[in-house]
Amino acid sequence: MLIPQYIKSKIKEVYQQQVQQGKRSFYIYDTSYMYNKIQHLKQIMPAGVDIFYAMKANPHSYFLKTAKNAGVKGIEIASLGEGMKCFEAGFSADEIIFTGPGKSPEELEWSVKHGLKTVHIESLAEAYRLNQIAVKYNKIQNILIRINADFDIHDAQANFSGGSKKLGIDEEKLIDYLPIISSLSNLKFQGLHVYAASGVLSVDDLLTNCKLVFKLSKQIEEKFPHIKCEIIDFGGGFGIDYLQKGKNFSPELYAQGLKELIQEYNFQNRSFVLELGRYLTADSGWYCTEIIDIKDSRGIKQVITAGGTNHFRRPAALSINHPVEIIEMNQPKIFDTQSQVTKEQVFIGGPLCNTADKVAKDLYLENADIGDIAVFCLAGAYGLSMSHTDFLSHYKPEEILII
Ligand SMILES: Cc1ncc(COP(=O)(O)O)c(C=O)c1O
Repeated sequence: MLIPQYIKSKIKEVYQQQVQQGKRSFYIYDTSYMYNKIQHLKQIMPAGVDIFYAMKANPHSYFLKTAKNAGVKGIEIASLGEGMKCFEAGFSADEIIFTGPGKSPEELEWSVKHGLKTVHIESLAEAYRLNQIAVKYNKIQNILIRINADFDIHDAQANFSGGSKKLGIDEEKLIDYLPIISSLSNLKFQGLHVYAASGVLSVDDLLTNCKLVFKLSKQIEEKFPHIKCEIIDFGGGFGIDYLQKGKNFSPELYAQGLKELIQEYNFQNRSFVLELGRYLTADSGWYCTEIIDIKDSRGIKQVITAGGTNHFRRPAALSINHPVEIIEMNQPKIFDTQSQVTKEQVFIGGPLCNTADKVAKDLYLENADIGDIAVFCLAGAYGLSMSHTDFLSHYKPEEILII
């Protein structure tokens, strides 16, 4: 993957400033990529389909503000802390939807008090607890029910439904639970939420998920004529081609397929939610870290960078390499015969004293020298916020917005 020249120049400039502060790792963001993607999706999606930003992908205010400026319909949050960040970025309660298992009593109370757009119910206990809180405040809270569909997507990076899951209510239990939940006095059932998987490159697979929710909605509306699924939430999941195999997710094909499904099911008068994280943010970020050391260990080059999984845990967490480019810095040699990388597969890890600290494995590099900067592309999603920054008490890398 080629890093644009203006980003490379900026990386070199920022690197010099960071070294002055004793830091040799940092994130660079250009959120104009995110902005353009949101604009494009808004243009191509069928009527009724709203784009929400799943802020867990990158909770930095730069990204929230970009989402706001680009005109997303709202934000998907998974904690009270995320909700507070939304308020700080200028979003109002009726633009916030709250998903995720294990919402605490305080989080539910906060949701009701502020009157969030929807709270997504993940269990029967959560429904009862939320209702009790809504009764206490004499408010009606809009809800969606999150379903753990009996379906999984094979080429996804992470499956969120199928089998036994802590997320959502098992699909087959819905028929029994729905009358109970919809009879709770202070909850207003608005529809279903089925989020199948993250990091999906196959449009057909994600459309199959949509079809499944449509079928389920029809079934329950036939069985319970007083119930209507006004809102259908498909979750996130649009994938990013981290392995650079030319398998880019096509939002245009998805939009076309969804339009056809909406017509087939005669669902034109409903609202649809896409809560996207990775797809919107991944290509807005680069994680940059200096190569501190290179050594040969039993035939494999071990490239040791200033930051490891404490700054960028995603490759280790998902066992996936990101595209890496090396920016040559032409630093003076430390000693004449020091190791360097030349056209070979390497391991890249940071300064943490365990072997799980890997940011790339079996990664082919043309060239790398001590003192060069390793740049991990597509690092705008699930980067710093998913990393264990306190481990070994290294500094936290700065996040620098360049556009
Ligand atoms: C409920 C929910 N919605 C949306 C997302 C965003 O998913 P993605 O980054 O794959 O778009 C996630 C990610 O875990 C999620 O849990």
